[in-house]
Amino acid sequence: MTESTTEPARQDLHPTPAAPAFEAPVPFPQDRGCPYHPPTAYAPLREAAPLGRVTLYDGRTVRAVTGHALARDLLADPRLSSNRDRSGFPATTARLAALRSRRVALLGVDDPEHNTQRRMLIPSFSLKRIAALRPQIQRTVDRLLDAMELQGPPAELVGAFALPVPSMVICALLGVPYADHEFFEERSRRLLRGPEVADVEQARIELEAYLGELIDSKRREPGEGLLDELIHRESGDGPPDRDQLIAFAVILLVAGHETTANMISLGTFTLLRHPEQLAALRSGSTTTAVVVEELLRYLSIADGLLRVALEDIEVAGETIRAGEGVVFSTSLINRDEAAFAAPETLDWDRSARHHLAFGFGIHQCLGQNLARAELDIALRTLFERLPGLRLAAPAEDIPFKPGDTIQGMLELPVAW
Ligand code: HEM
Repeated sequence: MTESTTEPARQDLHPTPAAPAFEAPVPFPQDRGCPYHPPTAYAPLREAAPLGRVTLYDGRTVRAVTGHALARDLLADPRLSSNRDRSGFPATTARLAALRSRRVALLGVDDPEHNTQRRMLIPSFSLKRIAALRPQIQRTVDRLLDAMELQGPPAELVGAFALPVPSMVICALLGVPYADHEFFEERSRRLLRGPEVADVEQARIELEAYLGELIDSKRREPGEGLLDELIHRESGDGPPDRDQLIAFAVILLVAGHETTANMISLGTFTLLRHPEQLAALRSGSTTTAVVVEELLRYLSIADGLLRVALEDIEVAGETIRAGEGVVFSTSLINRDEAAFAAPETLDWDRSARHHLAFGFGIHQCLGQNLARAELDIALRTLFERLPGLRLAAPAEDIPFKPGDTIQGMLELPVAW
């Protein structure tokens, strides 16, 4: 399927000057010119594929993996560490550097500790458990669309739909009261995109204090949800300690709503900008599950997975030295021609399932079954219920997120 005739194959909504052809490291991350394409300024990185160099905000130069096969090899290689405390660990923003010494569950630990943590959570995210959640996700989606239809058109889709769907679902799954959503959504936003380091630190302290109190109250008065199950866990070594519980709650709550919310908003924007592909979805000539997989590849919203080498690693005719930082650019990896034919095209006919939008190896997204179910139900129901859905502002005026955070729309004005 070709890209829609209404939109040339590669046209940035906010054009940036063409990158000079040189071999110097490319600054990373950079803002996208179009919310669904990697920045044009990454072109030299593509030429250097599968392994290039980028400079980070602090001036450090680190390795950048942009080839799909190499990314799979390296993300599965125990000689690369996710431990943020190790010297040489790359930080793509001052904000991430500030959070570095904090205890990040799962994503910030290597095996064997990582394996111990992950085994405690995996049953709650199995295909079976997530399939059982689908009716509840559907009810959430239906209720939000009822409210949106009552009040509109127009509507602002991020606030009315894209954010509350995953936020309500992860609250129910964890046993966090959704009534507090404004509090934790605002802290999550600051954690992922705070204006200043001190503010990010403050957001973290407040979120941890809130979750700590919630865990204490659940100890006194058991409720329902994953946090309650963990608190009262009898298998294995028994329940995790309070700090560990807080660290689990932080990562699940933050990763559980921000990422999927961005996929819903950016996925909707992308579909509305690709009328031919949207028509195929609406006519039923493809399934939403296929659409979701290709959108995950095409949008690669979590761009820039971070690792540090524990020892010298010989790859692609080069040596990644012990202590060198490594950044994986999923937006380029998922547009590697060797892995995806015509990668710039949004194509429902390809099999995109081997994309690395959820990462790969031991840290591959724990919530991927949940994210797929939410995206499937949210996008299918949205376009079924509102067949006339359209942007309510010129595409180039709609703000999207800067390059140093998870990609998505800041706002999405729609009408129907
Ligand atoms: C479309 C939505 C999502 C995307 C694109 C996404 C993307 C990712 C990626 C790329 C990683 C690997 C990071 C790395 O290797 O450095 C990851 C890990 C993780 N994700 Fe997701 N994620 C999504 C939704 C979710 C949801 C809904 C949850 C819910 C609970 C979640 C929880 C996690 C956790 C806990 C990890 C760390 C796993 C580990 O280290 O073992 N994610 N995610």
